[in-house]
Amino acid sequence: MKGVRYDKDSGKYQAQITVQGKKYALGRFDTLLEAQYARLSAEEEKEKGTFIKNSIFAGRYNIVSLGDWHVPYENREAIKAALKFVEKLQPNIIVLHEVHDFYKLSRFDKDPDRRDNLQTELDIATGYFNQVRAENPDARIILTKSNHLDRLRRYLWANAQGLSSLRSLEIENLLNLRANNIEYMESLLYNNVLFKHGNLVSKEAGMTARRELQAEGLSGVSGHTHRLAQIYRRDRSGNYMWIEGGCLCQLQPEYIEGVSNWQHGFSIVSFDNEDSNKYFAMPVPIIDGEVFIC
Ligand SMILES: [Fe+2]
Ligand SMILES: [Fe+2]
Repeated sequence: MKGVRYDKDSGKYQAQITVQGKKYALGRFDTLLEAQYARLSAEEEKEKGTFIKNSIFAGRYNIVSLGDWHVPYENREAIKAALKFVEKLQPNIIVLHEVHDFYKLSRFDKDPDRRDNLQTELDIATGYFNQVRAENPDARIILTKSNHLDRLRRYLWANAQGLSSLRSLEIENLLNLRANNIEYMESLLYNNVLFKHGNLVSKEAGMTARRELQAEGLSGVSGHTHRLAQIYRRDRSGNYMWIEGGCLCQLQPEYIEGVSNWQHGFSIVSFDNEDSNKYFAMPVPIIDGEVFIC
């Protein structure tokens, strides 16, 4: 099949597609069938390019932020709904953050009942990366830094300094991001909106958004709190907003006592065009596996 080939070095099947003269890697797969499926899905999406023509996002420059998946403690139903929506939207940029949990490297007490293994976690997350790339062949995809991802660096520095210089342990290499043409960045400042994971946490939805806006002095989208909210501010220098983007992880992990005040969701910032500072933005709730958006 066109766009699918066997890579002798890795022993895997590679799929790719060319859209508007640009080649997009769709991932490496153990079986020919999986690679063919990735290619066929990408072809379908390429043809469907007009899907959003009647939506409020049509003809605009759309950026989606999907955060706090915490694989392998992700909520599959919420992810399925979010990715289905994103596939239809075909955003220009997809920002991913805190996809991995890296629980085994956590400095917090480890529950022996959590019998996960780090390689399994990496494999599941890579599966999601493959899927996002295959379903959005034209999108610029960015993974931003987060505290869970940083657990690897802290672990190495604390327990295995001798290994910390290994290139194969750098995030881009360990997560095999280049295979899916995924960029790894601290954060993304696009026009006048900042996309980052964040490290502040206040108790109620919206309180962290207020603090982030105060600290950064510009509009933005962050995660980390697992809560969903949007706040606005207008002052002499202009109009600002900040979004807390919810999460895609399980809502009731065992280390939370009582009911966790977390919400499933993601965020969209829709610019008038690629170079415009004018936009509308919204947190998008996912309730019982369904995306709620007008
Ligand atoms: Fe998180
Ligand atoms: Fe976080």
